Amino acid sequence: MFEDLINFIIFILPCYVANATPVALSKIIPMKNPIDRGKKFIDGRRILGDGKTIEGFISGVIVGTLVGLILSFLGLHKLHVSFILALGAMIGDSLGSFIKRRVGIPRGKPFPIVDQVSFVIISLILANAIVFIPMRFYLYAVIITPPLHLGTNFIAYLLKLKEVPW
Ligand code: CTP
Ligand code: MG
Repeated sequence: MFEDLINFIIFILPCYVANATPVALSKIIPMKNPIDRGKKFIDGRRILGDGKTIEGFISGVIVGTLVGLILSFLGLHKLHVSFILALGAMIGDSLGSFIKRRVGIPRGKPFPIVDQVSFVIISLILANAIVFIPMRFYLYAVIITPPLHLGTNFIAYLLKLKEVPW
């Protein structure tokens, strides 16, 4: 059970790292090109909002995949799978923002559950297209990710990487 959890955490690491990268890098590299190009959806609200940038998306995919590359050298991961996990994380994160805008939650305001699990669930679903993902991994993701996400966001807040602790 414990070993299984460790295996899961190693497997999902490219996804977590991808998700955390834009937050950290946005303090060093200016990220100002919104994926939605400032466009609004049919409901009059932004499609994704200014919190989802092209720079953030690409840097997340690159850094997440790099972590997968290191893990693959150690024989702990597969490079192509880590790439899909990182890509899935950024797609899922964007999808989360799309949902937030549709229900009227402004950029940067918290939306519990969606903020914490959208990136990891979409990441696993995408990875499932190229490698078998055991059902319990989805369960682990849902259980482990929210406390981990809140914890890392709080650390990012303390380090002044984030303005709000969520
Ligand atoms: N970020 C980015 N590009 C992305 C994802 C994140 O530039 N594709 C950066 C933005 O500076 C963003 C920060 O990372 O503000 C934190 O990410 P997140 O919490 O996901 O975005 P929010 O600003 O909270 O926006 P939303 O309400 O849409 O989630
Ligand atoms: Mg946020």
